[in-house]
Parts: sequence; C-alpha cells; structure tokens
Amino acid sequence: MAIITWQKAAIAFAGILVIGIFALVIVDGTFLHKQYLEPWAEDYHEQFEDPRVQALAHGVLAPNSHNLQSWRVVLEGEDSFFLYVDTDRLSPKADPPGRQATVTQGTFLEYVRIAAEELGYEAEIELFPDGEYGPDGSPENVGSKPVARVSLKEASTEARGALESRETGGSISALYPVMFLPDTYRVPYREIKLQQEDVEKLEALSTENVTIVIYQEAEDVEKLGDIAYRAAEVEAGNSGVQEEGSELFRPNEWEKNKFRYGFTMEGQGLSPFKVHVLQGLLSLFPSMNSPEAAGDSFLSQAKTAVENTPAYALIITEGNSRTAQVESGILYSRFLLTASDMGYVMQPLSQATEEYPEMAGMYKEIHEEYAGEGETIQMLMRIGVPEKEVPPTMRLDVMDIIEG
Ligand SMILES: Cc1cc2nc3c(=O)[nH]c(=O)nc-3n(C[C@H](O)[C@H](O)[C@H](O)COP(=O)(O)O)c2cc1C
Repeated sequence: MAIITWQKAAIAFAGILVIGIFALVIVDGTFLHKQYLEPWAEDYHEQFEDPRVQALAHGVLAPNSHNLQSWRVVLEGEDSFFLYVDTDRLSPKADPPGRQATVTQGTFLEYVRIAAEELGYEAEIELFPDGEYGPDGSPENVGSKPVARVSLKEASTEARGALESRETGGSISALYPVMFLPDTYRVPYREIKLQQEDVEKLEALSTENVTIVIYQEAEDVEKLGDIAYRAAEVEAGNSGVQEEGSELFRPNEWEKNKFRYGFTMEGQGLSPFKVHVLQGLLSLFPSMNSPEAAGDSFLSQAKTAVENTPAYALIITEGNSRTAQVESGILYSRFLLTASDMGYVMQPLSQATEEYPEMAGMYKEIHEEYAGEGETIQMLMRIGVPEKEVPPTMRLDVMDIIEG
C-alpha cells in the first residue's frame, strides 16, 4: 500500500515536472526561429540589390547605446542616403541630452564605411550637412536635422588595387570580418595586460579631435573601477533609469523576435540552457523583472565586471559638440574592431559619463580626474581578454530602419 502511494507520488511529481518544462518552453518560445539574429549572417546583405542597403545591412551590427539601434535612414537619389536619429527609440532618463544616441550614429557610420569598402565603394560621409542640432535632447531637436549625408562612389581601380594589396586574409579591410563578432563582453576578463605595442597601436587610432587613452597601471585600474562601480550604484538606485531599462528588457524569444531591439539575457555569459530557463521563469513570473530586481542584478554584474578587469580606456573629445559625439562613435567602432582583431574585447561602462542630475557628482569626479579643461569624456570602457565567449545580441532588420 505504502509502495503504491510512493509510486503515485513519484508519477505525480514527474507529471508536474513535465508540464512545468513544457510550460517554460512554450512561454519562452524556445524553438522559435531567431529572426533577431539574422543580420549577423555573413550573407545577410546579399538578399538586397541596392549597394546602399547592402552596406546599411552591416551598419545594424554596430554597438549602440542601450541596444536601441536609433538609426533612421532616408534614401536619396541613386547612390546617397541621409542618416537621422530615430526618435522613437531613445532613452531620455539615462541619456537626457541624446549624447549616447548621437555617439551611436558614429558607430553605425564606421560599420557602413567599412562594409562599403568591402563591397567596392568609397563612402563619402558629410557630417551634419544642414548644421548640427543643438544640445537639447528632446526628440524634436535630435530628430530635426540629418546627422550625415553619405554617398557611395565606386572605388577607383587604383584605390581598389591598393586596398586589395593589403594582407588581410581575403577581405579588403582587415576589420570587415571582425564586424560579425559579438560587440560587447560583459563577462569577467582574465588577468592579462594588453601588450605594450598593442596599446600604442590602439592609442594611435586617435584623431585630431578624439583621443583614446588606455590605462592599465594598478592605481588607475583601481580608481576607474571604483568610479565605475560607484556610478553603477547611483544608476541602480535611480528608479527612472531602472524603469526605462526594464521596459527595454525582452524576457523571451517571442518578444525578442517582435522588437529586435533592447536588452536580453544574452551577453551575460550564461549558457543557452540557462538563458531559456530564466526566460521561461521571467515570462511566467514577470514581477521577477521589476526595476528593483533589475537594479540589483545590474549592480552585481558591475561588481563582477570591475573585479575582473585588467585595463580601461577612455574616449575624450575637446568640447562636446554634436560632431565630436559622432566622431567619438566612429572612433569607438574603429577601436573596438581593431582591438577585437588583436584578440581583446570590451564593454563600455557609461554610467559615470551620463548627464542626469543624480549622476552629476560622479560625472564631475571622473572629469576632474581624467579630463583636461574643456574636455569631455565620451566613453569609458573596460578592455581585456574574456574568460568566455558570448553570443551575438538582437538586431533590427535593415529594412526597419530605411525610409523611401
Ligand atoms: C554610446 C554607447 C554606450 C554604451 N554603454 C554601455 C554600458 O554602459 N554598459 C554596457 O554593458 N554596454 C554599453 N554599451 C554597449 C551596448 O549596450 C551594446 O552595444 C548593445 O546592447 C548591443 O549589444 P552588442 O554590442 O553585444 O551586440 C554601450 C554602447 C554604446 C555605443
């Protein structure tokens, strides 16, 4: 009798387990085709005939603020397009002046330029052809003028010959294949310093207006890590910013395919199995994704990050014009791709550079410590060799960002 009862209990338990797993798989959408990853395929651009669209199809792979991918493209004539900030996808709480959204225009332009080169075109990029929009971050302002006018001209035979003669393992640009690798590694990095010659090459990417500085002396690593962590504490305690982040969180495969922008579990170094289990649980119990829970998890990730970082880098501009912001994005892409090609990875830690009132103290502190008079720190990144690989994250379909 007792055995039968025990068997019944075991069968009931197994039944509940199976139903539970089934429910998790359904609510998560575990077996859905991941449309949101399609742009990462190396032949994704080939389905489009227009070379501009082909180049733009690479642009969506660029790193970008809050994974909002706030790019809007208006095609013009046969070979040109205008790039605007897409004001439907902004993060006004974390980025009140729209500065990170403007930096994000630059990251995109550099990816498009490299892709165009690979496709046999020279991308002539004119920044702010109608003048800059002002410092105000309202959608009406940042969306009012194009960030760039880009024209694709067929590369001359000489230019192509010169490019092809580079030793680049088959691609015209050595950076082209690197664009298909994940952009942001939020996992622990090994205790390996950057080679001095790599530091020199990376810092030499600096331009007339935008400077890259790499820090890997113990004192700076500690100081910058401390600033980054205390800024993360401020951010974790800011309900407005946390709510904004929670709204951008896509808890399962259904939502990831629907939105294709925002945040996901990927990128935290979790195995695909854990991602799906957590996604299923988050979908069944949405309260697990409260702004408070998001703040706690953000802070614990920040702690692990700063405790496992051998080096930091800053991107600094003279002044803080909109042009300087776009140029920072261009340089960030070049920096990231060049460093990836050398075997390093990065993660921006933007909190201390943000402009909302509660962050003012940290903003002042990092500028007093690391910027000169009149200079602006556009980005702070950790850099190193990752302890593990991360998967690529969501991207929009290129046609979602194109008008006309
Ligand atoms: C201007 C800018 C600021 C960013 N700030 C952060 C940040 O503070 N923390 C972070 O983890 N990633 C940051 N990122 C990386 C983006 O979150 C990331 O590029 C985006 O989510 C897409 O994911 P992926 O790069 O892994 O493909 C930033 C990227 C840019 C361009």
